[in-house]
Parts: sequence; C-alpha cells; structure tokens
Amino acid sequence: MTAIVETDRSRLSVLQAMLHGSVPLESMDALGEHVAATPQEFAVVIGPSVPVDEAAVFSQWARVNKPDLGVILLRETVDAHALSTALRSGMREVVQSRDLAGITTAVSRARSVSNAISQTLEDETQAAAEAAARAALSEARASAEAAREAAERPTGRMLTVFSTKGGVGKSLMAANVAVSLAEQGSSVCIVDLDVNNGDIAIMLQLTPMRTLTDLAAFNGDVAVDAIETLVTPYSKTLGVVAAPVHIDSLDQASNEDVGKLLDLLVRVYDYVVVDTSGAFDDFALTALDRTDTLILVGTLDIPALKGLKLATQTLDLLNFPREKWRFVLNRADAKVGLSVDEYESTLGLKSDCTLVSSREVLTAVNRGEPLVLAYSGHPNSKAIKAFTKSIAGDAVHAAEVEEQADTRSRASAGRFRLRKA
Ligand SMILES: Nc1ncnc2c1ncn2[C@@H]1O[C@H](COP(=O)(O)OP(=O)(O)OP(=O)(O)O)[C@@H](O)[C@H]1O
Ligand SMILES: [Mg+2]
Repeated sequence: MTAIVETDRSRLSVLQAMLHGSVPLESMDALGEHVAATPQEFAVVIGPSVPVDEAAVFSQWARVNKPDLGVILLRETVDAHALSTALRSGMREVVQSRDLAGITTAVSRARSVSNAISQTLEDETQAAAEAAARAALSEARASAEAAREAAERPTGRMLTVFSTKGGVGKSLMAANVAVSLAEQGSSVCIVDLDVNNGDIAIMLQLTPMRTLTDLAAFNGDVAVDAIETLVTPYSKTLGVVAAPVHIDSLDQASNEDVGKLLDLLVRVYDYVVVDTSGAFDDFALTALDRTDTLILVGTLDIPALKGLKLATQTLDLLNFPREKWRFVLNRADAKVGLSVDEYESTLGLKSDCTLVSSREVLTAVNRGEPLVLAYSGHPNSKAIKAFTKSIAGDAVHAAEVEEQADTRSRASAGRFRLRKA
C-alpha cells in the first residue's frame, strides 16, 4: 500500500486518483497513526504542501524504525535545499509534483526495495533464530554430557591395604580403618581380595551368605544388583564383600568382574577399603589401578623390611605415585635390634601410623571385634583413628583439587590407571 500526505485537498484527490489503492492523509500526525496501524505499508508520498523539514523528521524516524518504508518527497521545484534535506534524512526520492509518471515509477521502485529489505530482514531473523536454536542445542548437549560424566565419575575414595609380607597386620588395618571411617560418619565397604585366606569376615564376626565367588554368577554383567547381593552388612554404614569361604570353588570371579565391582562400589560408598593377599597378584593390581590411597603395612623386623623394600621398588616401577602412599609401621616396639629410624631410612618412608604389639589386639581379633570399638582408648586404636582422620582429610582435599581441575578441563578428570583392568 501507499500513503499520501497532502494538506491541500484538491491535490490530494489528484494524487489519490493517480496512485490506485493509496490512502489519503491530510496531516503528518495522521501519517504517524497510519504507519503505526499499518505495518505492511511500503511507501509514503509526501505532497508539496508539507514543509520539507516536517517530512525530514518523519523520514529520519522511518530510516531507523521502519527501514523497509520508502519516503518519496514531492516538490513544486526540486531545488538544492529539498535534495540535500532529503539525502540527509534518508528519503528515497524527490520528484517534481507534476511529474505523474515519475511519481508512479518512484512508488513502484519503493515497493521493490521494500520487498527486498523485508526479505533480507526475514532471512536475517531466520538465520539468527536458527543460530540461537543451534547454540541452545549444543549447550543442552554439553550440559547433558557433563551430567553423564558427573554421574559416572566415582564419588567415593578407594583405599587399598597392601604388603608383600603375610601376617604383618593388613587385615587388622583394613578392618579397623573401615570401622573408624564408618564411625566418623562415612559409608564404607570393605572388599576382601585375599581370596585364599580372607580374614575380614572372621575379624568382624560375620557369616556371609554371599562372597566374592558369587560375582561369577553375574557373567560379567556387574550392576547395582551385585552390591545388594554380595555385601554382608556389619552396620548401617559398613558392609563387607567377603572373600570366598571355600577356596576350591569352581566359579572364580575374573579380574574384569572384580574391577567392575570396585568401580561400582566407589560410586555408591564414600570409601571402599580393599584388603589384599600380600602378593602382586591380578586382584591386587586390579585394586591398585583404582586406588586413591595405598596403605602399606610392615612390621619392625628384617624379613618385613626386605619384603616392603621390594614392594616399594615394584610400585615405583609401576609408576604408582608416591603421594598416594601411606605407611603403617606395626609392632614398632619390637626388640629386634633395629630402630624405627633405621627402618624408615632403609625403606625411604616415614611412618604415618605407628602401632605397638599388644595383647588387646589379639584378644579383639579372637573375639571378632574391631580393636577401635573393643578397646577404643588403646594407643593402637587412637593411632588408627588419627590415621583414618588424616586419610579422610586427604580425601576432602583431593576431591576439592579434582573439582577445581574438573572445572578447568573435563579432559583432566581421568583417574590414575596402572594398566587396563
Ligand atoms: N600390633 C599387634 N599386636 C598384637 N598382635 C597383632 C598386631 N598386629 C597384628 N597382630 C596379629 O597378627 C595376626 C596377623 O594379623 P593380620 O591378619 O591383620 O595380618 P595380615 O597381614 O592380614 O596377614 P595375612 O597376610 O595372613 O592376611 C593377627 O592374629 C593379629 O591379631
Ligand atoms: Mg590378611
């Protein structure tokens, strides 16, 4: 459509008759109202009776607010003033008011320009909408991916108690550290990977209905059901995956099964405490692969020192980071002609927890009670509880560091692996 503004009525009727279907308006105010009510308007013809400055004010407004509206100025005489004002205010054309052919051509040009501008604006709007939709989609994908990663990321910490020497107090430490952590308010699961000689169930006076052997029944499909089936509860916050009762069982859990179980447990419990057999066997390596804190246990005697030295050399060869090691020196009061200092300097490790030989330890073990509960004021219980607190503190610190690293780069969130499970 075209609007015509002309204060002289007779001129207005002539122009209206010439521009078929146009809307006649007698004032600039009427034009303002008409344009506001007619968004599809593409041309405005401003007659010679309207002062050029008023026409310029309208044109400036239209240039910004309605760029597809063409303003055509009619003048009795097309002089330099009219032309320069028209140019500055963004009018499309200035036509001599008696040039009827010129006026119709100008209006038809305004229509073409308006169509082209509308199309461009439409394309730009569509492109902007598509870009916004794409950005929203990729943002949604990224946050879904982040949520999936967060769900799969282990929330608990894994502690593995290890030594290459038997009878040094690994199971004693595993049971008592786990009980202390549970007493301190964490949920804990002990996994007894000493499949030939597991003592955890006995030390906690448990009669497990299921053991690690039953893991084989899952045929590699280890899911949350496995936890409920395999864990023997000790208390509300402490459970045990016990070692097999019969070592001649035909079905043995594979390393992969054990790895999957540990990965699952560490997402469910605050702490998973693994007791090991005293050898670098496949189960121990599977656990070490996933371990956040390695608790090395040794007694103050030469054979244990020799065994531990060998263990530390092997762990170094496996690139197991030393900052994850904690060392427990058991029976540190033994009179064997070897001082704690000599022991530690030969081993190259300072003890983080020192226990003395004591009758109460044996009594508690024989009664099937954890030392930290049976004799909570005993020096060994105090030492174990303090050690456990420091491990929990390390865990909080490590979680904070991991979270910071995570925010910096999702790619750096991978856990340490010695080798593939
Ligand atoms: N500080 C101690 N004082 C007295 N007895 C102890 C002490 N530490 C461990 N024992 C006893 O030594 C025995 C072996 O301890 P434990 O079973 O914890 O060792 P382990 O390293 O797990 O042995 P294994 O390699 O056979 O699994 C247990 O009977 C335990 O009660
Ligand atoms: Mg043991």
